This record gives sequence, structure tokens and C-alpha cells, in this order.
Amino acid sequence: MNSVIDFINVNRDRYIDELKEYLSIPSISALPAYRPDVIRCAEWTGEELKRIGLENVRLVETAGYPVVCAEWLHAGPAPTIIFYGHYDVQPVDPLDKWDTPPFDATVRSGELYARGAADDKGQIFMHFKAIEACMKQKGFLPINIKLILEGEEEVGSENLDSFLRDHSSEYLGDVLVISDTPMFDRGVPSICYGLRGLTYCQVDIRGATSDLHSGSFGGAVANPAFVLTQLLARMKDRSGRIKIPEFYDDVRPLSDEERVEYARLPFNERRFQKELGSRKLFGEKGFTTLERIWARPTFEVNGLYSGFTEDGAKTVIPAVAMAKVSMRLVPDQNPDLIGDLFEAYVKKITPKTVDVTVKRMHTAKPWLVDFDNPFVQAAGRAIERGFGRKPVFNREGGSIPVIASFQDRFGLPAILFGIGLPDENAHAPNEKLDLDNFHRGVISVVTLYEEIGALG
Ligand code: BES
Ligand code: MN
Ligand code: MN
Repeated sequence: MNSVIDFINVNRDRYIDELKEYLSIPSISALPAYRPDVIRCAEWTGEELKRIGLENVRLVETAGYPVVCAEWLHAGPAPTIIFYGHYDVQPVDPLDKWDTPPFDATVRSGELYARGAADDKGQIFMHFKAIEACMKQKGFLPINIKLILEGEEEVGSENLDSFLRDHSSEYLGDVLVISDTPMFDRGVPSICYGLRGLTYCQVDIRGATSDLHSGSFGGAVANPAFVLTQLLARMKDRSGRIKIPEFYDDVRPLSDEERVEYARLPFNERRFQKELGSRKLFGEKGFTTLERIWARPTFEVNGLYSGFTEDGAKTVIPAVAMAKVSMRLVPDQNPDLIGDLFEAYVKKITPKTVDVTVKRMHTAKPWLVDFDNPFVQAAGRAIERGFGRKPVFNREGGSIPVIASFQDRFGLPAILFGIGLPDENAHAPNEKLDLDNFHRGVISVVTLYEEIGALG
């Protein structure tokens, strides 16, 4: 064990150089123009998996981007980890808000700035380096492991379910391990035991067949932009409660124990608000900020488009208006049912003066794991070794679509072993990875493998 840790300490700088190279590949899954780069990134990932000593490395084609798979299965009766992560990244707009180019990874004050640094290339790379250190120093791993690295997580993992269906017998294992979440706070390591789900839709309103002169026609027809904003305004009341009928029916109430636990966490509301640069926090009445983010559903407008938005003025009634909206969901809400409820409500309240369509984009189921589970406890001990402090158990507001698929399909418990930070700027300009966390993370992952191996 110590020789493995020594190896990690000695190789610290090399890891950063290699990670910089990985981060230089703009694997943006959402934008078709980057297709060759996403594929190149899958290939780079495959080569890396070979280099670190994994076996049966392959790129499995899907209807979208390849899933990179590899394994090492020589640990006899020790448990088998299914490791999941994603090599795709979010788009980088607005580009002018980045202090250094997003695909030219740069170190500043102990942080590595680049798109994908935390979400998720840096975090999967931490596992690659932990595997490499074990293989180089010992020639074996304490666990059996199967890796699945996908290139479509940031666009909803649409093809992963069919991949899992087609390869179901290959992905039997004991525990799913994912490193794709932030920790509770800098210096406060955590094990995440719950994620929210998601239903994402696009609403299109169409009025006349063409844009109209607002003087010649204004007053005689409905304005799609106005109809859309009126629709959106009816989604929530002033206290932040969502007004879609039956929306809350399946929401599992927070237990008293959870509320007490959350209130004990070192969370500073004032600091949180200051860091966001927001005038005042806002959320559903009757809940604390952490409760709202972790355990209550939301309705958000992600984007709006209609009419004339350039400089100057133009007197026009737009023909169409569009909104992208999404709802974060909590146990036991069902994303498809929520989509149905939303669509029915939109249809019901849209006036007859316009046409409306609701397009379903993607969904993710909410997820919770029992943290008394021995694997989750083993993860806690591993984090403690790397970070020198007992982790807190937290939930997160984000979503990882695949996690419930694994639970439903294979009955696997999951460990969310994340070393990101709340201010990592995921999906935003100046995404960054704390290099000290990364280094401690590699050590924690080696320990995690040891701890899980010992459970076998
Ligand atoms: N790494 C995130 C998930 C995440 C973020 C979990 C923050 C916990 C806290 C992941 O890459 C992501 O962005 N997921 C999307 C899923 C969506 C595209 C279906 C999300 O949460 O918006
Ligand atoms: Mn991610
Ligand atoms: Mn993401």
C-alpha cells in the first residue's frame, strides 16, 4: 500500500501534464461540429486505459458516441466494481467570460482551469491514475473492475440504456462507483447518497404563419411571446410552489432525522449567497436552502426565445415563441409521469388563439441509497484516509441519468465518490479542478479499492 502511495506522490506533476492533454480535446457532445473531437476523445480514453494496464479495452459503437469499456478481473472472490464516468463535456459559451482558453488547461493558484477539469475528465482521470499506481507497483488490483465511460452524459445518456440492455450480462457486479459530484465544501469531504431526477421539455408556441407588423395587426391577434410568458407565469405561485396539478403527489417528505442532519452541516447561507453574487436567495416556502436543493423538486426556465432581440427596435409580432424548461425531481416522482402532467397542464391553459407543442428532451430518475450499506461506509473510510477528515453524508441537486438505470436493471448500490467543489464552475466559464483535491482523490481511490477488496 505505501509503495503505491509513494508512487502517487512522486508522479504528481506527470499526472497534471497528462490530464492537461486529455482536457485539450474539445469533446462537446451537444454540438454536432465537435463530433470528430468527441470520437478522438473516446480513442484517447481507450489508449489511456490500455497504458494503465487494463484489459479487453474496446470502443463499443452506439447510435450516438462510443462507450469506452475495459476491465480487469483477476482479483478472484473480491467484489466487482462497475465504474461509470463520462468523457464528454459541456459547451463553453460564453467564451469571452473565460480568463484562459477552455481547452488550453492552465494552472493558477493550485487549480487547473479547463472545460471538463471537474466534470468529469479530471475525476475519471483520478481513477485511471489510481489503477495505474496499483498495477505499476504491485501488478494487480485489490478488486475486479469493469469500466464504462460514455460520451453522451451531458446530453442525457440517451443511448446508454440500450447499451446496457444489449450488454446486460457483462455488467453484473457488486457496486457502482461514480466520481462526478462536488464535495460538500472545501475541506469538507462528503459521500453523496442522493441525486435529483429531471424532466426536460421544449415548449413551442405558434401564432400566425409569419411575423406581423405590430401596427397593422396588433390588437387583432394573440402574441406568441406574450402567451408563452403567461403560460410560464402560471407554473409557480409567488411562494415558489409549483402549480402543475398532481405535481407533488409522489414527493417523499423529508424525514425529521434528515432535517436535523442537514441543519447540522457546516453550511453558511450568507456566504453561499455572497458567492453567487445574488441579491437575495429565493425558494419554496417552508424549507431551508439545502432542503430546497437536495430534497425538493423545482421548475426552471432554462432558455427563452422569441421575436426581435438585437440592438435597436423593431415593431413586430413574432410568429413563434419557444421555451426550454426543466423540472428537477425527487424520490418518488416519476419523470415520464411528470412530463405527462406538465404537458396536460400546458395544453389545458394555452388559449385557443395559438398552437402549442411540448417536446420531451430528456429524463433522469431521482436516486437515493441507504448509507448504512457496507460499500458506502467503505467509501467513507477511504475519503477519510485521503482527506484526513470524516466525510459528511450529503445529497446533491444535480442528476446522473444512468445511476437509476443501474439500480433498476442490476439492483446495484452506488457510491458517489466525488472530489469536485461547489465553486468548480461546472457547465460555466472558468471550470476548474483543485489539484490538491485531485491528489488526495487519487490516494482515496486506491484506499477505496483496498477497502472494497477487503469486503470480499
Ligand atoms: N456531474 C453532473 C451531475 C451533478 C452535478 C451531480 C452537480 C451533482 C451535482 C453531470 O455531468 C450533469 O451535468 N448532469 C446533468 C444531467 C442531464 C443532462 C440529464 C444535469 O444534472 O443537468
Ligand atoms: Mn458530470
Ligand atoms: Mn455535467
